[in-house]
Amino acid sequence: MSARPVLVTCGLPYTNGPCHLGHLRTYVPADFYVRYLRRTGETVVFVCGSDNHGTPVVVSAEDAGISPRALSEQYHAHFDQTFHRMGVIFDHFGMTDDPTNHQRTRSIVEHLTENGYVYSKVIQQSFCTKCQRFLPDRYVEGICPHCGTPARGDECDQGCGKHLEPGEIKEPSCTVCGTRAESRDQEHYFFRLSGFKEFLLDHLDTLSGTLNAKNYALGWVKDELHDWCITRTLDWGVKFPGRDDLVVYVWVDAPIGYISFTEEWAENHGRSWKEFWCGENTKVTHFIGGDIIYHHCIFWPALLKGAGYGVPHAVIASGMLKVDDHKFSKSRGYVVWTNDDYLDKGLPSDYLRYYLLAYTSHTKELNFSWKMFQERINNELVNTLGNFAYRTLFFAHKEFGGIPDVPVNAGIISEIEKTLSLVDISMKDYEFKTAIDGMMTLAAYGNNYIQTSSPWKLIKTDRNAAAQVVKDCIVLVRALTLLFEPVIPRKSQELWEMLGNSDPVSGHHLNEALTDTAEGPLPAPRPVFSKLEDDFIGEMDKLLAHRVREAGKKVVKTETIPFDEFCKLDIRTGIVISAEKVPKSGKLLKLRVDVGGEIRQVVAGMAQFYTPDEMTGKQVVIVVNLQPAKIFGIESNGMILAAGESASLLRPEKDVPPGTKIR
Ligand code: MF3
Ligand code: ZN
Repeated sequence: MSARPVLVTCGLPYTNGPCHLGHLRTYVPADFYVRYLRRTGETVVFVCGSDNHGTPVVVSAEDAGISPRALSEQYHAHFDQTFHRMGVIFDHFGMTDDPTNHQRTRSIVEHLTENGYVYSKVIQQSFCTKCQRFLPDRYVEGICPHCGTPARGDECDQGCGKHLEPGEIKEPSCTVCGTRAESRDQEHYFFRLSGFKEFLLDHLDTLSGTLNAKNYALGWVKDELHDWCITRTLDWGVKFPGRDDLVVYVWVDAPIGYISFTEEWAENHGRSWKEFWCGENTKVTHFIGGDIIYHHCIFWPALLKGAGYGVPHAVIASGMLKVDDHKFSKSRGYVVWTNDDYLDKGLPSDYLRYYLLAYTSHTKELNFSWKMFQERINNELVNTLGNFAYRTLFFAHKEFGGIPDVPVNAGIISEIEKTLSLVDISMKDYEFKTAIDGMMTLAAYGNNYIQTSSPWKLIKTDRNAAAQVVKDCIVLVRALTLLFEPVIPRKSQELWEMLGNSDPVSGHHLNEALTDTAEGPLPAPRPVFSKLEDDFIGEMDKLLAHRVREAGKKVVKTETIPFDEFCKLDIRTGIVISAEKVPKSGKLLKLRVDVGGEIRQVVAGMAQFYTPDEMTGKQVVIVVNLQPAKIFGIESNGMILAAGESASLLRPEKDVPPGTKIR
């Protein structure tokens, strides 16, 4: 048993929308990992909570017409319940807006300031003259200065994924009213992240967890570290010490929630939170989504170090999620809602847990489709594990009234031993899928063993030999029940009870799988897993397809405009005279277009789809009276029309001279 208690956390869900598969891709593996550690004798505290601050929550609350606190309470309760329904059981689930976190955040900011890691500076910030306010983070949208993709105020969410500092975004406009934002001077506070390069290189070198987290972070640290603006002009949040008009950036108080939630847990359990967060020997393990590696592997350890806390031991980052082979997207309809689409349809939480854990390696891309879900559940949980357990228990009950009185075969124990050690090695490498495949291989071994030994035939000629097979299979079923508890806790508990126990299987050590069982009666068994039928899966598929269609319509269905508004648009045909890539932008082409006697310079995001050569000489359709804009420092005087995500160019069906008006 490890002397140090392990603290495991999960990235905190924003309280601005319901739980979906994207959340579960991180929470289920974290819960699995915690359960496994406990089955192997580790002391683990598992905390999480809801992320209440920041513009994601404020903007949604504004839309809903309620206060950010009210919205947060609503979604906090929702996540708490949903996680329980999924068998994801935290020891404590707090809120970042609770007093503990306000206090801890202010205390950490004060320590950072005392230690010289915080300084103030006047910066230019986006300001909306119509709404009469500064535009922090998601209140502003524009163009990413690094890659030219449309982006949110604080992150390039659809392009290069980079974090954007206040004032960095190009062509900022207000997300509430659409007005082009102005720049105004304002004093803000910065965290001296740039001073942590050496520390971070050392820290990342020894950081445990998945390689995606470590390697991405190392790349960024070697590249360049910018200081982070850690204040925002918002009412909602933790007040910056000494400044009532500013709150701290949500990415400061959110991870500090990990500490506050530990404090709250410790308070309730008569323990000290310091054993988890202070000193050299702390063992904090973070499970996070792959999109927040920067925050957890760079910003967060630097913040902890600067304030005098221990640093994380491991970061485990999950890979991408797809639904029906499309990038997970709520707005496009490629989403599975945990309650509406899954639990409320009567589906067992354990099936989804199994799928999420066994589909692929934790850091790889996971695709969810109902067909594939059906296949995996039916073949593996139903036909392999379920079938073996049921055949064994059914036969034992029917012929022997329970567990026969013979010692288990040594070969069986060594088979279990092999599985345990494979699982152990895989878990140490955070290779959850390999661990679970190993468990399923043991179930397949059991199935094969009972099939080839055929105790139902054997019993007619040799009752003792049949008893031996049944006993061996019972020991295998028990081992599988213990092994699978972290994966499918509820189904394992059912199996555990059918094995004649009444206590929680989660109270047992995995090593008990290696001991023989005593003889004794067994209750009449029933199948624990049932097949997912074609009709049902077909219905679920239809529902998803319907949602995707509706989402498509929503994108098309926009506000109507009067005809004379439309007439204001000057759209013409043109011929591309020359084209070249905009250096470093990745996606942008700079084009010179003849629009009928006049040459226009246009910057267009189509470099991934057309080469400069392909573009030269092409006929295009162009809006010529769009307000000029600077993109990547280059003036753009017009917009070329193209269809869809692959930017397929619009062209007149019959040849017309350049400058022909579209009407
Ligand atoms: N709410 C954030 C998100 O969904 C995650 C916060 S994790 C923490 O991206 F580290 F800040 F707590
Ligand atoms: Zn970008």
